[in-house]
Amino acid sequence: MNDGALLRAIEALQNGELVIVPTETVYGLAGCATRTDALERIFRAKSRPTHNPLIVHVADLTMARSLVRDWPDVATRLAEAFWPGPMTLVFEKNEVVPSLATAGATSIALRIPNHPLFIALIRECGPLAAPSANRYTKLSATQAPDLDPDLVRAAAVVLDGGPARYGIESTVVDVRTDPPNLLRPGAIDAASIEAVIGMRLQRLGGETVASPGTHRQHYQPRHRLVLQDLLGPDDLGLTFGDPQSAFQIRMPNDSEAYGSALYAALHQCDRWAEEFGRERISVECPPTDDPRWEAVWDRLKRAAASDSP
Ligand code: TXA
Ligand code: MG
Repeated sequence: MNDGALLRAIEALQNGELVIVPTETVYGLAGCATRTDALERIFRAKSRPTHNPLIVHVADLTMARSLVRDWPDVATRLAEAFWPGPMTLVFEKNEVVPSLATAGATSIALRIPNHPLFIALIRECGPLAAPSANRYTKLSATQAPDLDPDLVRAAAVVLDGGPARYGIESTVVDVRTDPPNLLRPGAIDAASIEAVIGMRLQRLGGETVASPGTHRQHYQPRHRLVLQDLLGPDDLGLTFGDPQSAFQIRMPNDSEAYGSALYAALHQCDRWAEEFGRERISVECPPTDDPRWEAVWDRLKRAAASDSP
């Protein structure tokens, strides 16, 4: 990365164009959050329905507060514990960000990302809306080579920040309710959040109601993903054991390390399947009884979901 690319990115964002940015979770497709033309470009590039709201990224608490109507105390505790970082908080919005960003909702999702390049852009350009840089319902990218070529074409600049540290999207928590409501499991696990707020999170229908983006089919590779107890010698995919062929990737036993490796491994499987004419990607089931695997399970289930319910 050189300063020239950063300067071009700043100029592009100030012109209402889009920039692909590295974050600590997954790469994002960023545009100015206060410009309707930039927001329209984001939805169009992703083929994302406009009923699916975007996360707005801010550089500090002052910028966060400038976009909301109410700031509940619990948000201060969560922000102190987890910002900058992979935690998105949902507030009641004020009128600064156009409602196109929030899919017409009176709420707004905010996060301070933990990545120096992204923060530098926000400081120069103001709040940036950035969904994950993937086409709607498809696999997110955790490294620049895995970015969808169509999205790369839609962006004026791609900032390559190397591999993302967490590899799983942020945890989304609605702080308008008491207790707060977990809308999307993510890189920060529910137990860590509950330890900070001293109570259990609610889990009210984030899947279909309050967080429309948590579509049943999502995070999908191009080839059919199948969950299995164990991989056979002929299966192409992800295993916890010793690989039995060159088309198997050994995944970490630790949930965080697994999460950070998951999307890049699935992109690799997609390339193998394409090259060698295979129809499916097999993935060995992670532990089912350990809450630390919740976000990984969420992604794997959506990645494996078929068209028919
Ligand atoms: O880690 C991340 O969060 C990445 C990086 C780029 O920051 N971004 C990301 O954005 O995952 P996206 O658009 O792929 O997912 C945003 C999620 C969706 O589930 C969406 O429904 C939810 O946040 N969301 C956004 N605004 C919301 C709102 N006002 N109320 C409820 N849920 C909201
Ligand atoms: Mg996404």
